[in-house]
Amino acid sequence: MKKLLFTLLLAALFLAGCDRQERAGLVFSVGGAPAELAAWQDLVDEFRQVSGIEVELLRQPAETGQQRQGLILALKAELPTPDVFLMDVGWIGLFAASGWLEPLGDFDRSPFFEEVVERVDVHEGELIALPVYMDGGLLYYRRDLLALAGRDAPPETWKELLEDAVSLLPAMRAENPNFYGFVWQGAQYEGLITSFLEFAGSEGGFVLRDGRILLDVPANRAALRLMRDLIRNRVSPPSVYTEMREEEVRLFFQRGDALFARNWPYAWRLHQQPDSPIARRIGIAAPPGPTAEERVSTLGGWHIGVSRFSQRKEEAMEFVRFVTSREAQRRMVLALGWNPGRRDLYDDPRVLEEMPNLAELKEVFEKARARPAIPYYPQVSEIAQRHLNAALAGRVTPEMALQQAEEEIAALMARYGM
Ligand code: GLC
Repeated sequence: MKKLLFTLLLAALFLAGCDRQERAGLVFSVGGAPAELAAWQDLVDEFRQVSGIEVELLRQPAETGQQRQGLILALKAELPTPDVFLMDVGWIGLFAASGWLEPLGDFDRSPFFEEVVERVDVHEGELIALPVYMDGGLLYYRRDLLALAGRDAPPETWKELLEDAVSLLPAMRAENPNFYGFVWQGAQYEGLITSFLEFAGSEGGFVLRDGRILLDVPANRAALRLMRDLIRNRVSPPSVYTEMREEEVRLFFQRGDALFARNWPYAWRLHQQPDSPIARRIGIAAPPGPTAEERVSTLGGWHIGVSRFSQRKEEAMEFVRFVTSREAQRRMVLALGWNPGRRDLYDDPRVLEEMPNLAELKEVFEKARARPAIPYYPQVSEIAQRHLNAALAGRVTPEMALQQAEEEIAALMARYGM
């Protein structure tokens, strides 16, 4: 009798296990700041209610490079999970070329930013991803402090930004010794490249010429000198090159310790929270440039795709349809203040009521500058990150850094037979 009971118990446990596995559902990998992950959890819960499909949120670090590494490990091993994930525009090309993305089939692409979809999400004629949110680099500024300096508009050139900072710093530092002029992403990671592209403006960045990637060009030299000098002259803190990623920049600016900050749109909503010391004292604008005509904002953003190795592709596709639907995107915009991948929300009355600046931002995104859409871009970027960061630290001159990065990139491309 005891034995029978024991066997029954084992069987029950086993079946419960199977049942849990049955219902375990999809694994969705996504990273970001804590507020973003909380909003994703809500969205996933709503998806379960409408579809009956469970989704496990695989929480990733916010940093894009770390997210990429984590996904690459799973995909190289052809693991069935995560089934579905967000990808940075910077590495979709690599994932597509590696054959890791399941074509999404027939999707109505018309509500999305079509040029972005064409350039980033279509691989060999097939749709392999869809934009969930768009990023463009922005200049955040303290409206109240600029007004003290008699300025009613944000700077349009780096020279103007420097002038504003220099004129305000002495008085601000007398009150707050930790006050700085400008904080930006300068740590050795992808964000450094996105800031660098803006410092360099439309004449610089990764200059593609005759199948080569040039970095040692006048606009880049000027940009890197300026970046280094901002730190040397204490307009920007040394922590810019040692540790500043998105959240470090956001927290620094939000404490009230800087006049200007470079960040993505997500920071706006957080800066404006009622308990934020800078709430209602800030403005945003397109980043300055070497000249007003050469201003660029770097195109960023995250797109959703399905793993080729998923064993739940049907459900994964349903999830993609849900996440990119107008309703879900509206909810995420209202919760996080991010910029939807769908164009049709930029004139949605409810969204505009919450985010009156969205109409203006749409223009910044439409003109934003993409990083090279090549499969080995992550490696190109890693080389550039290392050398640029060494120049910021003062270990090499800007000229040396750019030359060395250019040579290493050329060697990499030769290895790939490009
Ligand atoms: C943001 C952007 C992404 C970029 C990253 C750099 O997440 O959306 O495109 O690569 O920042 O840190």
